[in-house]
Amino acid sequence: MQKIDWDNLGFDVRETRSMYKANCRIGEEWKLGGLIPYGTIELSPAAGVLNYGQGCFEGTKAYRTIKNQVVLFRPEMNAKRMAMSTRRLCIPEMNKEFFLQAVEETLIDNIDYVPPYGKGSLYIRPIVWGTSTALGVKPVEEYTFMVFVSPVGPYFKGGVKPLRLTVSNDYHRAAPKGIGNAKAIGNYSASLYPLTEAKNRDFDEVIFLNAKDEKFVEEVGSANLFVLTGNTIKTPKLDGSILPGITRDSVITLAKDTIGLEVLETNVTLTELYDADEVFCTGTAVVVTPVGSITGLDGKHKIADGKMGQLTSKLRQLLTGIQRGDVSDEFGWLYPIKE
Ligand code: PLP
Ligand code: COI
Repeated sequence: MQKIDWDNLGFDVRETRSMYKANCRIGEEWKLGGLIPYGTIELSPAAGVLNYGQGCFEGTKAYRTIKNQVVLFRPEMNAKRMAMSTRRLCIPEMNKEFFLQAVEETLIDNIDYVPPYGKGSLYIRPIVWGTSTALGVKPVEEYTFMVFVSPVGPYFKGGVKPLRLTVSNDYHRAAPKGIGNAKAIGNYSASLYPLTEAKNRDFDEVIFLNAKDEKFVEEVGSANLFVLTGNTIKTPKLDGSILPGITRDSVITLAKDTIGLEVLETNVTLTELYDADEVFCTGTAVVVTPVGSITGLDGKHKIADGKMGQLTSKLRQLLTGIQRGDVSDEFGWLYPIKE
């Protein structure tokens, strides 16, 4: 086990032992790559990714369970989403076996960076981009896939406090029929300016509305949104501009099958959020995080006091309980790693 201050991990990049690298040419299959020491890489200034944003990534976490076993959580879903994102960005599609082999190999070589039980997780970032050059706008010839890891704690500074959100009225995250449902790097660059403006105004994150008519909510920064009213949970339906979150899918199953609530994947309005009993967001990085207030054009709407709502808390406990091996893995979501 590495000597790291496990109690004070944030969500930052920390150097680890190694990273995975593989290459592929357009029209060919991905062939297994290998591990190299963690460090910087060389890239032409004319690389496809630097000029035309031809890149996408994934995010998953490895956890140490109560029995001291290292597990991944539903990594096949990341493989599936990576295939979908690469297809959309004209990057050679990688198959599930290739993706999982790369993730596992990187994890096993850096296994001593997985935090102890209950102290965070090892964030795993598979990323793929167009490496060779292009001056005219087109998919380039050569691609690089890498996996790097970093031990992490909570995404938001100060842990799991209810978020203060603001509605983005001046900017959209993703266009209808655009790349919002892919984990494309360009979606994140589009979110940086609204996020920075929001942080300057002392908000934690931004709620993005649908670009077509701004009638419905879509996502919170880099997480999916949920709203509880009575015994019904609603979450924005996946209509092309929302990322199909793996945590979102897991929380829907837990809410329906484990807790017995009605879950609707549908259009969700800001008014429904303002009037809700609980609002929370979900994601690999944010896990299940409560929303405390939302500020829109008509002012601030308080949703929760300083503490987490009952259902938010229950869902968070169930999800993290499964990930840490405290709660029975009844849906077969854990993917044990043989060290
Ligand atoms: N929405 C966006 C835009 C994201 O970046 C993420 C994070 O991956 C999510 C939602 C949540 O997805 P997941 O639960 O798969 O991490
Ligand atoms: C994740 O939750 O894994 C993400 O990718 C969100 C993010 C930090 C971009």
